[in-house]
Amino acid sequence: MFEQLDKIAKYKKERNAVILAHNYQADLIQDIADYVGDSFGLSQKAAQLENDLIVFCGVNFMAESAKILSPDKIVLNPEINADCPMARMAGVEKLRELKAKHPQAAVVTYVNSTAAVKAESDVCCTSSNAVKIVESLPQKKIIFLPDKNLADYVNKRTNKEIIYWEGFCPTHHSVTLEDLKKSRELFPNTEILAHPECRAEVLAEADYIGSTAGILNYARESSAQSFIIGTEMGLLHRLKKENPAKEFHLLSSQLICRDMKKTSLEKVARALENMETKVEIDEKIRLKAAKALQAMLEIGG
Ligand code: 13P
Ligand code: SF4
Repeated sequence: MFEQLDKIAKYKKERNAVILAHNYQADLIQDIADYVGDSFGLSQKAAQLENDLIVFCGVNFMAESAKILSPDKIVLNPEINADCPMARMAGVEKLRELKAKHPQAAVVTYVNSTAAVKAESDVCCTSSNAVKIVESLPQKKIIFLPDKNLADYVNKRTNKEIIYWEGFCPTHHSVTLEDLKKSRELFPNTEILAHPECRAEVLAEADYIGSTAGILNYARESSAQSFIIGTEMGLLHRLKKENPAKEFHLLSSQLICRDMKKTSLEKVARALENMETKVEIDEKIRLKAAKALQAMLEIGG
């Protein structure tokens, strides 16, 4: 392990690199990263950074978004097999058909999507700004993809007509109302904080719903001492580190995203040493996807 840490430090310095990691990454990866955050915070960071080289530890769509926003920088993806299954549930052809069917609708695409799908969209959103983005648009009808649970969360908070897509996060969607009831029995008088990718019936019972950064903020500011966490287990690392006196329990043992756990110290060291794997995106697609991501960043979080 120390050998990998030394290698990372050496090449990071030599190559003026910065390491970004999502809140779901393995504990060690979070600890070596320069910035750890949610999807929105990390895309903002990627757009602002002055470093020549970004190493993105997350899943493919996140490294891709960094490259879309920073085309002149080298973005390295240490684990190209880390793919978000939900992002694969939306394809360009089907989206074009839906757009043809609803020509008046705006297309709002969750960042958990491929660059090609972003390129077909008016604006992107993350779980932290989805409602704000939808509300900011002049159109009454919104095609919202790919997450049906996030779409439903937005639908309940806006008067717009939301057209759903049949996509979901296998990790968050696996949590059931039964899991929630069991957790409540085990830990009574504990606040439940959940990610909007969870099912509607789970969200209906939550005390707070928000992105990973939203959950971190809520737990930090709340006077409660104990929380049940309805999102991927990786978030527990920061929650515990930032709130050592508070208690955190995972809502379900199924809350693990295998793809997020594929990145290892060894892979990060190898990426920095060999400058691999560079994220490359077709320039036509990149330009169109950048418009949708920039539109989101302008509206904000
Ligand atoms: P956040 O935007 O909350 O970081 O979530 C990203 C994600 O992949 C959730 O499953
Ligand atoms: Fe995708 Fe779900 Fe993993 Fe997030 S937790 S990266 S939505 S599969």
